[in-house]
Amino acid sequence: MDTHVETSEDSLDREWWTEAVVYQIYPRSFNDSDGDGVGDLSGIVENVAYLDELGVDAVWLSPVYESPGEDNGYDISDYRAIDDQYGELADWERLVECLHDRDIRLIMDLVINHTADEHAWFQRSRAGEEPYDEFYYWREGDPAEPPNNWESIFGGPAWSYDDQREAWYLHVFDESQPDLNWRNPDVRREIADVISWWREKGTDGFRIDAASHISKPEGLPDGDPDTDPTGIAHYSHGPTLDAYLEELTERTLGEAGVMTVAEMGHTTVEQAAEYVASESNGLEMVFQFDHVGIGDSPEDLFDPEASDEWDLTALKDIVTRQQTEIAWPAPFLGNHDLPRAVSLFGDDERYHRESATLLATFLLTLRGTPFVYQGDAIGMHNAEFQHLAEIDDVMTIGRVESLQEAGVIDSREEVRQFVNERSRDHARTPMQWTDGKHAGFTDGSPWLKVNERYTEINVEAARADTHSVLAHYRELIDLRHEWAVLVDGDYELLLPEDEQLYAYRRTLSEETALIVLNWSAEPATFESPVPTDGADAVTGNYTDVPSTPDGTTFRPYEAAIYRL
Ligand code: GLC
Repeated sequence: MDTHVETSEDSLDREWWTEAVVYQIYPRSFNDSDGDGVGDLSGIVENVAYLDELGVDAVWLSPVYESPGEDNGYDISDYRAIDDQYGELADWERLVECLHDRDIRLIMDLVINHTADEHAWFQRSRAGEEPYDEFYYWREGDPAEPPNNWESIFGGPAWSYDDQREAWYLHVFDESQPDLNWRNPDVRREIADVISWWREKGTDGFRIDAASHISKPEGLPDGDPDTDPTGIAHYSHGPTLDAYLEELTERTLGEAGVMTVAEMGHTTVEQAAEYVASESNGLEMVFQFDHVGIGDSPEDLFDPEASDEWDLTALKDIVTRQQTEIAWPAPFLGNHDLPRAVSLFGDDERYHRESATLLATFLLTLRGTPFVYQGDAIGMHNAEFQHLAEIDDVMTIGRVESLQEAGVIDSREEVRQFVNERSRDHARTPMQWTDGKHAGFTDGSPWLKVNERYTEINVEAARADTHSVLAHYRELIDLRHEWAVLVDGDYELLLPEDEQLYAYRRTLSEETALIVLNWSAEPATFESPVPTDGADAVTGNYTDVPSTPDGTTFRPYEAAIYRL
């Protein structure tokens, strides 16, 4: 069918990222070229053809900067250097060149709420050396009594006592990740310089890590002890956050063509909508997390009482709000901090292919700029961790330790099940390239265990199968590129109360797409609340797409797209 829609005059000068599909790479787990068991930049270069074949327009690269690696690179010790395990600056330059040769842009991860404690700034700061002495939040006082009651997002107090400086320092994440003092104009200048430096080297955009946490209120007041983690209400959306972002925008991020997306945990849809709507702060997009937190107790992934049960009508409600209230949404179903999408939202066993392709259909027919997480395009799912010793993630370990210290659990084994549902390691198991040793990820010994099902779920097998999850992703990415209604069209939810079917219309001038997803393991009949006469079946995830939607009984996890 002809899905071409006239390009309006406006869209001629629209920003590149509005029409892009972005692919996130977690470099540690993508591809190891030198056999040390850890992925690296040359390993990505070897697979740029894979990204091109998938059809993505940009890569968001999780951190590759020099780092002690406590939080796998989200603890930076030198913003202008590549960590040895990933290669060197020349390898990064080669990667940019290879990506740009194929018209794929590169988005770097900007970890600017904190540095590693091994960063020279912190080393000098703890020695009291000017001007670094005020680069972090230091408070003097009794070594037995932290300056306030804030708790870290990774468990335990948000303060650690430093014997060298004889003072407390703040860390809203791990103790090895001291928070930068953004109140200090020198810090803000240094960070802006770092951004300009990467920009001049050819970076096309930035994902701002933990963006909601960079501003803290005057006086660092105690938090409500009933919130978890205590203090989060103070150290999220601080009073000067917008002003800091605005300053970065004026100095560097506002440069034409630079894309910015801010990671904002603990942020409501309303707040996300405001950040995106604001003209001054320069943020183009915000990652809003309500939909991926749907099975949790509010805001806490590591609550042992949290249930993995979730309800489709609630998901529709959240996604519909994101789609309709945020001026330009950034849909995503997974990232390096989340369980695998097909395990959370689908059925990773009986309906693995069907549910993984339904999720692809969903993600790639939503309004905004979709982000595809590494491995999701072949349907990678949660691993089975038998022992906590198999876990690497600093957050999982920190949270489990604090539960134990607080007496909530007696033994670590008690939490095995929720660790198996929640650990960030699920998203970080090595990419499955082949059915060979270590899934073709490394010739050495992988830093994290490979998911057992790699012999069946891998890129090589997916390439050979015209009905694979990968084939479906490719087809849908192509379709999105050709059919503007999927990118820009208004989103309208149909059947909000239906507990099996998630259906919506996308409309752009005369063009309408109808998407019907049977998000369940049982057949479901679609009684269309809108006219569907003359509907054309565009594509679906079963080999035979039902020719008309209305009155059709859709099969388990069936997904179909129609042109109305
Ligand atoms: C963000 C990152 C996460 C990291 C944390 C601290 O949430 O996505 O991986 O641990 O920030 O930098």
